[in-house]
Amino acid sequence: MQLHQSYKMELDVEKIRKDFPILARLLNKKQLIYFDSAATSQCPRIVIDSIKGFYEKHNANIHRGIHKLAEESTLMYEEAHQKVADFINADFEEIIFTKNTTEALNLLAYSLLNDLKENDEIILSQMEHHSNIVPWQQLAKLKKVKINYVKVTEEGKLNLIHLKSLINEKTRIVSITHVSNLLGTINPVKEISEIAHEKNIIFIVDAAQSIPHMKVDVKDIDADFLVFSGHKMCAPTGIGVLYGKKVLLEKISPFLYGGDMIKEVTFENTRFNDLPWKFEAGTPPIAEGIALGVAVDYLNSIGMENIEEYEDKLTQYLYKKLKEQKDVKIYGPEKRSSLVSFNLYEIHPHDVATILDSEGIAIRAGHMCAMPLVKEVLNESAVCRISLYFYNTKEEIDKFILALDKVRKVFGK
Ligand code: ALA
Repeated sequence: MQLHQSYKMELDVEKIRKDFPILARLLNKKQLIYFDSAATSQCPRIVIDSIKGFYEKHNANIHRGIHKLAEESTLMYEEAHQKVADFINADFEEIIFTKNTTEALNLLAYSLLNDLKENDEIILSQMEHHSNIVPWQQLAKLKKVKINYVKVTEEGKLNLIHLKSLINEKTRIVSITHVSNLLGTINPVKEISEIAHEKNIIFIVDAAQSIPHMKVDVKDIDADFLVFSGHKMCAPTGIGVLYGKKVLLEKISPFLYGGDMIKEVTFENTRFNDLPWKFEAGTPPIAEGIALGVAVDYLNSIGMENIEEYEDKLTQYLYKKLKEQKDVKIYGPEKRSSLVSFNLYEIHPHDVATILDSEGIAIRAGHMCAMPLVKEVLNESAVCRISLYFYNTKEEIDKFILALDKVRKVFGK
Protein backbone atom coordinates (compact mmCIF):
# COMPACT_ATOMS: atom_id res chain seq x y z
CA MET A 1 0.00 0.00 0.00
CA GLN A 2 1.26 3.47 -0.92
CA LEU A 3 1.13 6.44 1.43
CA HIS A 4 -1.03 9.39 0.36
CA GLN A 5 0.41 12.71 -0.77
CA SER A 6 0.01 15.21 2.04
CA TYR A 7 -1.01 18.66 0.88
CA LYS A 8 -4.06 20.82 1.46
CA MET A 9 -6.86 18.91 -0.16
CA GLU A 10 -10.39 17.58 0.08
CA LEU A 11 -10.07 14.03 1.38
CA ASP A 12 -10.71 11.29 -1.14
CA VAL A 13 -12.60 9.25 1.44
CA GLU A 14 -13.59 6.45 -0.93
CA LYS A 15 -9.89 5.91 -1.66
CA ILE A 16 -8.96 6.20 2.01
CA ARG A 17 -11.61 3.64 3.00
CA LYS A 18 -9.89 1.05 0.81
CA ASP A 19 -6.83 1.36 3.08
CA PHE A 20 -8.87 -0.13 5.96
CA PRO A 21 -9.63 -3.83 5.30
CA ILE A 22 -12.16 -4.06 8.15
CA LEU A 23 -14.43 -1.44 6.57
CA ALA A 24 -15.30 -3.97 3.84
CA ARG A 25 -16.79 -6.30 6.45
CA LEU A 26 -20.46 -7.21 6.42
CA LEU A 27 -22.35 -7.49 9.71
CA ASN A 28 -25.74 -9.22 9.60
CA LYS A 29 -25.45 -8.99 5.80
CA LYS A 30 -25.15 -5.20 6.13
CA GLN A 31 -22.11 -3.10 5.38
CA LEU A 32 -20.32 -2.33 8.65
CA ILE A 33 -20.71 1.28 9.78
CA TYR A 34 -18.02 1.84 12.39
CA PHE A 35 -18.92 4.72 14.70
CA ASP A 36 -16.75 3.78 17.71
CA SER A 37 -13.35 5.23 16.84
CA ALA A 38 -13.12 7.16 20.14
CA ALA A 39 -12.98 3.75 21.85
CA THR A 40 -10.52 2.36 19.30
CA SER A 41 -9.87 3.36 15.72
CA GLN A 42 -9.33 0.94 12.85
CA CYS A 43 -5.89 0.14 11.41
CA PRO A 44 -4.95 0.77 7.78
CA ARG A 45 -3.31 -2.10 5.91
CA ILE A 46 0.10 -0.39 6.05
CA VAL A 47 0.00 -0.64 9.88
CA ILE A 48 -1.22 -4.25 9.84
CA ASP A 49 1.52 -5.13 7.32
CA SER A 50 4.12 -3.45 9.50
CA ILE A 51 3.34 -5.80 12.40
CA LYS A 52 3.41 -8.86 10.14
CA GLY A 53 6.59 -7.63 8.42
CA PHE A 54 8.34 -7.03 11.72
CA TYR A 55 7.73 -10.58 12.94
CA GLU A 56 8.53 -12.10 9.54
CA LYS A 57 11.78 -10.21 8.97
CA HIS A 58 13.18 -8.31 11.95
CA ASN A 59 11.95 -9.75 15.25
CA ALA A 60 14.59 -9.35 17.97
CA ASN A 61 14.88 -7.61 21.30
CA ILE A 62 16.10 -4.01 21.33
CA HIS A 63 19.15 -2.44 23.01
CA ARG A 64 20.59 -5.88 23.81
CA GLY A 65 21.94 -8.08 21.00
CA ILE A 66 24.73 -7.05 18.66
CA HIS A 67 23.48 -9.24 15.83
CA LYS A 68 21.90 -7.81 12.68
CA LEU A 69 18.27 -8.44 13.68
CA ALA A 70 18.78 -6.74 17.04
CA GLU A 71 20.38 -3.77 15.29
CA GLU A 72 17.46 -3.52 12.87
CA SER A 73 14.73 -3.75 15.50
CA THR A 74 16.54 -1.23 17.74
CA LEU A 75 16.83 1.21 14.86
CA MET A 76 13.18 0.77 13.85
CA TYR A 77 11.97 1.19 17.44
CA GLU A 78 14.09 4.32 17.98
CA GLU A 79 12.96 5.76 14.64
CA ALA A 80 9.35 5.35 15.80
CA HIS A 81 10.14 7.52 18.86
CA GLN A 82 11.57 10.18 16.54
CA LYS A 83 8.47 10.08 14.30
CA VAL A 84 6.18 10.54 17.31
CA ALA A 85 8.42 13.35 18.61
CA ASP A 86 8.22 15.17 15.26
CA PHE A 87 4.45 14.59 15.12
CA ILE A 88 3.86 16.62 18.31
CA ASN A 89 6.89 18.95 18.01
CA ALA A 90 8.86 17.34 20.85
CA ASP A 91 12.44 16.05 21.14
CA PHE A 92 13.43 12.40 20.93
CA GLU A 93 14.34 12.16 24.65
CA GLU A 94 10.91 13.48 25.60
CA ILE A 95 8.92 10.57 24.11
CA ILE A 96 8.31 7.55 26.35
CA PHE A 97 6.39 4.60 25.00
CA THR A 98 3.84 3.16 27.44
CA LYS A 99 1.01 0.67 27.05
CA ASN A 100 -1.68 3.35 26.69
CA THR A 101 -2.91 6.71 28.06
CA THR A 102 -3.96 5.09 31.34
CA GLU A 103 -0.49 3.66 31.93
CA ALA A 104 1.10 7.02 31.07
CA LEU A 105 -1.10 8.77 33.66
CA ASN A 106 -0.37 6.10 36.27
CA LEU A 107 3.33 6.51 35.53
CA LEU A 108 2.99 10.24 36.18
CA ALA A 109 0.95 9.83 39.35
CA TYR A 110 3.56 7.46 40.84
CA SER A 111 6.56 9.38 39.56
CA LEU A 112 5.28 12.69 40.96
CA LEU A 113 4.43 11.08 44.31
CA ASN A 114 7.62 12.22 46.03
CA ASP A 115 7.05 15.82 44.96
CA LEU A 116 3.76 16.01 46.88
CA LYS A 117 3.21 16.54 50.56
CA GLU A 118 0.17 16.42 52.86
CA ASN A 119 -2.51 19.06 52.09
CA ASP A 120 -1.16 19.79 48.61
CA GLU A 121 -3.89 20.09 45.99
CA ILE A 122 -4.49 18.68 42.50
CA ILE A 123 -6.98 20.13 40.01
CA LEU A 124 -8.86 17.85 37.61
CA SER A 125 -12.16 18.53 35.86
CA GLN A 126 -15.65 17.06 36.00
CA MET A 127 -15.29 15.91 32.39
CA GLU A 128 -12.26 13.63 32.91
CA HIS A 129 -12.09 10.01 31.80
CA HIS A 130 -11.59 7.57 34.70
CA SER A 131 -7.93 7.26 33.68
CA ASN A 132 -7.40 10.90 34.67
CA ILE A 133 -9.29 10.53 37.96
CA VAL A 134 -8.57 7.14 39.54
CA PRO A 135 -4.72 7.29 39.62
CA TRP A 136 -4.88 10.74 41.26
CA GLN A 137 -7.49 9.57 43.78
CA GLN A 138 -5.18 6.74 44.85
CA LEU A 139 -2.26 9.14 45.08
CA ALA A 140 -4.41 11.56 47.09
CA LYS A 141 -5.26 8.82 49.62
CA LEU A 142 -1.62 7.81 49.93
CA LYS A 143 -0.23 11.31 50.38
CA LYS A 144 -3.30 12.98 51.99
CA VAL A 145 -3.58 15.34 49.07
CA LYS A 146 -6.85 17.08 48.08
CA ILE A 147 -8.44 16.87 44.62
CA ASN A 148 -10.58 19.72 43.30
CA TYR A 149 -12.73 19.34 40.18
CA VAL A 150 -13.32 22.20 37.74
CA LYS A 151 -17.05 22.47 37.05
CA VAL A 152 -18.61 21.89 33.66
CA THR A 153 -21.07 24.57 32.47
CA GLU A 154 -24.65 23.85 31.34
CA GLU A 155 -23.37 24.05 27.76
CA GLY A 156 -20.74 21.39 28.45
CA LYS A 157 -17.65 23.59 28.59
CA LEU A 158 -15.04 23.96 31.31
CA ASN A 159 -15.81 26.80 33.71
CA LEU A 160 -12.52 28.67 33.59
CA ILE A 161 -13.61 31.16 36.25
CA HIS A 162 -14.11 28.22 38.59
CA LEU A 163 -10.71 26.82 37.57
CA LYS A 164 -9.02 30.12 38.48
CA SER A 165 -10.87 30.23 41.80
CA LEU A 166 -9.57 26.74 42.69
CA ILE A 167 -5.92 27.71 42.30
CA ASN A 168 -4.09 28.60 45.48
CA GLU A 169 -0.60 28.31 46.96
CA LYS A 170 -1.17 24.59 47.68
CA THR A 171 -2.01 23.64 44.08
CA ARG A 172 0.76 21.47 42.59
CA ILE A 173 -0.81 19.82 39.51
CA VAL A 174 -3.52 20.64 36.97
CA SER A 175 -4.43 17.64 34.80
CA ILE A 176 -7.12 18.22 32.18
CA THR A 177 -8.38 16.49 29.06
CA HIS A 178 -7.83 18.26 25.73
CA VAL A 179 -11.05 16.82 24.26
CA SER A 180 -13.85 15.28 26.33
CA ASN A 181 -14.54 11.67 25.27
CA LEU A 182 -18.22 12.18 26.12
CA LEU A 183 -19.07 15.82 25.44
CA GLY A 184 -16.69 16.35 22.52
CA THR A 185 -15.71 19.69 24.11
CA ILE A 186 -12.35 21.03 22.93
CA ASN A 187 -10.77 22.60 25.99
CA PRO A 188 -8.59 25.75 25.71
CA VAL A 189 -5.43 23.96 26.86
CA LYS A 190 -3.13 26.82 25.90
CA GLU A 191 -5.06 29.22 28.14
CA ILE A 192 -5.17 26.67 30.98
CA SER A 193 -1.42 26.15 30.59
CA GLU A 194 -0.84 29.90 31.06
CA ILE A 195 -3.12 29.98 34.12
CA ALA A 196 -1.21 27.04 35.70
CA HIS A 197 2.26 28.26 34.80
CA GLU A 198 1.64 31.74 36.24
CA LYS A 199 1.70 29.93 39.61
CA ASN A 200 4.40 27.39 38.70
CA ILE A 201 1.89 24.53 38.69
CA ILE A 202 2.58 21.38 36.64
CA PHE A 203 0.21 21.15 33.69
CA ILE A 204 -0.70 17.71 32.30
CA VAL A 205 -2.80 17.23 29.15
CA ASP A 206 -4.78 14.07 28.39
CA ALA A 207 -4.65 14.20 24.59
CA ALA A 208 -6.13 10.74 23.93
CA GLN A 209 -9.14 12.20 22.09
CA SER A 210 -7.38 15.13 20.42
CA ILE A 211 -4.18 13.70 18.90
CA PRO A 212 -6.06 11.48 16.39
CA HIS A 213 -8.12 14.40 15.07
CA MET A 214 -6.07 17.61 15.08
CA LYS A 215 -2.53 18.96 14.97
CA VAL A 216 -1.21 18.99 18.53
CA ASP A 217 1.96 20.93 19.30
CA VAL A 218 3.33 20.42 22.82
CA LYS A 219 5.52 23.53 22.61
CA ASP A 220 2.64 25.71 21.49
CA ILE A 221 0.46 24.41 24.35
CA ASP A 222 3.47 24.54 26.67
CA ALA A 223 2.34 21.28 28.27
CA ASP A 224 4.63 19.90 30.96
CA PHE A 225 3.36 16.39 30.24
CA LEU A 226 0.96 15.11 27.58
CA VAL A 227 -0.35 11.58 27.17
CA PHE A 228 -2.13 9.62 24.44
CA SER A 229 -2.83 6.14 23.04
CA GLY A 230 -1.79 4.64 19.71
CA HIS A 231 -4.96 2.63 19.21
CA LYS A 232 -7.13 5.72 18.74
CA MET A 233 -4.87 7.01 15.92
CA CYS A 234 -4.70 4.05 13.52
CA ALA A 235 -2.01 2.15 15.46
CA PRO A 236 -2.55 -1.19 17.25
CA THR A 237 -3.49 -1.60 20.90
CA GLY A 238 -0.72 -1.97 23.49
CA ILE A 239 1.18 1.20 22.68
CA GLY A 240 0.76 4.66 24.17
CA VAL A 241 2.88 7.75 24.73
CA LEU A 242 4.00 9.93 27.59
CA TYR A 243 5.51 13.23 26.49
CA GLY A 244 7.36 15.18 29.18
CA LYS A 245 9.58 18.24 29.13
CA LYS A 246 13.16 16.98 29.34
CA VAL A 247 13.99 18.99 32.50
CA LEU A 248 11.02 17.46 34.29
CA LEU A 249 11.64 13.89 33.10
CA GLU A 250 15.21 14.19 34.31
CA LYS A 251 13.98 15.25 37.77
CA ILE A 252 11.25 12.67 38.42
CA SER A 253 11.77 9.02 39.41
CA PRO A 254 11.00 6.04 37.19
CA PHE A 255 7.79 4.13 37.84
CA LEU A 256 9.02 0.69 36.77
CA TYR A 257 12.48 -0.67 37.55
CA GLY A 258 14.37 -3.45 35.73
CA GLY A 259 16.09 -4.19 32.44
CA ASP A 260 17.01 -1.50 29.89
CA MET A 261 16.22 1.44 32.20
CA ILE A 262 19.67 1.18 33.79
CA LYS A 263 23.16 2.43 33.01
CA GLU A 264 25.00 0.51 35.70
CA VAL A 265 23.90 -1.95 38.38
CA THR A 266 25.89 -3.21 41.37
CA PHE A 267 24.58 -5.45 44.14
CA GLU A 268 24.06 -2.29 46.18
CA ASN A 269 22.93 0.34 43.74
CA THR A 270 21.73 1.35 40.26
CA ARG A 271 22.40 4.28 37.96
CA PHE A 272 19.41 4.93 35.68
CA ASN A 273 19.63 5.11 31.90
CA ASP A 274 19.36 8.28 29.81
CA LEU A 275 16.02 9.55 28.56
CA PRO A 276 13.73 8.21 27.28
CA TRP A 277 14.85 4.69 28.29
CA LYS A 278 14.91 5.57 32.00
CA PHE A 279 11.11 5.18 31.87
CA GLU A 280 10.91 2.11 29.59
CA ALA A 281 11.81 -0.83 31.83
CA GLY A 282 11.75 -4.39 30.49
CA THR A 283 11.15 -5.52 26.92
CA PRO A 284 8.78 -2.91 25.47
CA PRO A 285 5.99 -3.41 22.88
CA ILE A 286 8.47 -3.33 20.00
CA ALA A 287 6.25 -4.29 17.05
CA GLU A 288 3.46 -2.06 18.36
CA GLY A 289 5.84 0.89 18.83
CA ILE A 290 7.15 0.51 15.28
CA ALA A 291 3.56 0.24 14.02
CA LEU A 292 2.73 3.49 15.84
CA GLY A 293 5.51 5.14 13.82
CA VAL A 294 3.91 3.77 10.64
CA ALA A 295 0.49 5.10 11.75
CA VAL A 296 2.09 8.53 12.22
CA ASP A 297 3.52 8.32 8.67
CA TYR A 298 0.06 7.38 7.41
CA LEU A 299 -1.70 10.27 9.21
CA ASN A 300 0.98 12.69 8.01
CA SER A 301 0.50 11.48 4.45
CA ILE A 302 -3.17 12.48 4.64
CA GLY A 303 -2.39 15.64 6.61
CA MET A 304 -3.76 16.44 10.07
CA GLU A 305 -5.20 19.76 8.85
CA ASN A 306 -7.10 17.91 6.10
CA ILE A 307 -8.36 15.35 8.62
CA GLU A 308 -9.53 18.09 10.99
CA GLU A 309 -11.31 20.02 8.25
CA TYR A 310 -13.09 16.94 6.89
CA GLU A 311 -14.11 15.68 10.34
CA ASP A 312 -15.35 19.12 11.34
CA LYS A 313 -17.81 19.16 8.41
CA LEU A 314 -18.85 15.57 9.09
CA THR A 315 -19.42 16.24 12.79
CA GLN A 316 -21.46 19.35 12.07
CA TYR A 317 -23.58 17.25 9.69
CA LEU A 318 -24.12 14.57 12.34
CA TYR A 319 -24.93 17.20 14.98
CA LYS A 320 -27.46 18.92 12.68
CA LYS A 321 -29.15 15.62 11.74
CA LEU A 322 -29.42 14.53 15.38
CA LYS A 323 -30.64 17.97 16.46
CA GLU A 324 -33.52 17.62 13.95
CA GLN A 325 -34.78 14.52 15.83
CA LYS A 326 -37.36 15.76 18.31
CA ASP A 327 -36.83 12.81 20.68
CA VAL A 328 -33.03 13.08 20.86
CA LYS A 329 -31.15 14.85 23.65
CA ILE A 330 -27.55 15.81 22.80
CA TYR A 331 -24.86 16.42 25.43
CA GLY A 332 -22.11 19.00 25.04
CA PRO A 333 -21.50 22.17 23.03
CA GLU A 334 -22.25 22.68 19.33
CA LYS A 335 -18.61 23.43 18.45
CA ARG A 336 -16.94 20.13 19.23
CA SER A 337 -14.51 17.45 18.18
CA SER A 338 -15.58 14.35 16.23
CA LEU A 339 -18.11 12.76 18.53
CA VAL A 340 -21.69 13.21 19.68
CA SER A 341 -23.24 11.64 22.79
CA PHE A 342 -27.01 11.53 23.00
CA ASN A 343 -30.06 9.78 24.42
CA LEU A 344 -33.15 8.70 22.54
CA TYR A 345 -36.09 9.63 24.74
CA GLU A 346 -37.03 6.84 27.20
CA ILE A 347 -35.07 4.12 25.38
CA HIS A 348 -32.08 2.74 27.25
CA PRO A 349 -28.75 3.37 25.43
CA HIS A 350 -27.92 -0.35 25.56
CA ASP A 351 -31.14 -1.11 23.68
CA VAL A 352 -30.38 1.60 21.11
CA ALA A 353 -26.87 0.20 20.59
CA THR A 354 -28.12 -3.40 20.34
CA ILE A 355 -30.72 -2.57 17.69
CA LEU A 356 -28.24 -0.43 15.73
CA ASP A 357 -25.79 -3.34 15.90
CA SER A 358 -28.37 -5.54 14.19
CA GLU A 359 -28.28 -2.94 11.38
CA GLY A 360 -24.47 -3.24 11.14
CA ILE A 361 -23.87 0.05 13.00
CA ALA A 362 -21.30 -0.06 15.82
CA ILE A 363 -21.74 2.66 18.44
CA ARG A 364 -20.80 2.84 22.12
CA ALA A 365 -23.39 2.95 24.92
CA GLY A 366 -22.80 3.29 28.65
CA HIS A 367 -21.01 5.69 30.98
CA MET A 368 -18.07 6.20 28.57
CA CYS A 369 -15.55 5.67 31.41
CA ALA A 370 -16.72 9.05 32.72
CA MET A 371 -19.14 7.88 35.41
CA PRO A 372 -18.97 10.99 37.63
CA LEU A 373 -19.79 13.22 34.63
CA VAL A 374 -22.70 11.03 33.50
CA LYS A 375 -24.22 10.44 36.92
CA GLU A 376 -23.38 13.54 38.94
CA VAL A 377 -23.34 16.26 36.28
CA LEU A 378 -25.64 15.08 33.47
CA ASN A 379 -27.93 13.14 35.86
CA GLU A 380 -28.14 10.19 33.50
CA SER A 381 -27.26 6.53 33.98
CA ALA A 382 -25.82 6.11 30.47
CA VAL A 383 -25.61 7.69 27.02
CA CYS A 384 -25.16 6.59 23.40
CA ARG A 385 -22.08 7.85 21.56
CA ILE A 386 -21.27 8.17 17.87
CA SER A 387 -17.58 8.81 17.34
CA LEU A 388 -16.33 9.57 13.85
CA TYR A 389 -13.01 9.33 12.08
CA PHE A 390 -11.82 10.47 8.65
CA TYR A 391 -12.93 7.16 7.08
CA ASN A 392 -16.61 7.83 7.91
CA THR A 393 -19.04 9.43 5.45
CA LYS A 394 -22.25 11.47 5.30
CA GLU A 395 -23.95 8.45 3.71
CA GLU A 396 -23.18 6.41 6.83
CA ILE A 397 -24.69 9.17 8.99
CA ASP A 398 -27.84 9.14 6.83
CA LYS A 399 -28.14 5.35 7.25
CA PHE A 400 -27.74 5.74 11.02
CA ILE A 401 -30.46 8.40 11.18
CA LEU A 402 -32.79 6.06 9.26
CA ALA A 403 -31.88 3.18 11.59
CA LEU A 404 -33.10 5.26 14.57
CA ASP A 405 -36.60 4.71 13.15
CA LYS A 406 -36.11 0.97 13.55
CA VAL A 407 -35.18 1.56 17.21
CA ARG A 408 -38.35 3.62 17.71
CA LYS A 409 -40.45 0.98 15.96
CA VAL A 410 -39.15 -1.84 18.18
CA PHE A 411 -40.15 0.21 21.23
CA GLY A 412 -43.47 1.33 19.75
CA LYS A 413 -42.49 5.02 19.79
N1 ALA B 1 -11.57 5.99 26.34
C1 ALA B 1 -12.25 5.20 25.39
C2 ALA B 1 -13.65 5.68 25.09
O1 ALA B 1 -13.96 6.82 25.37
C3 ALA B 1 -12.22 3.76 25.74
O2 ALA B 1 -14.44 4.93 24.57
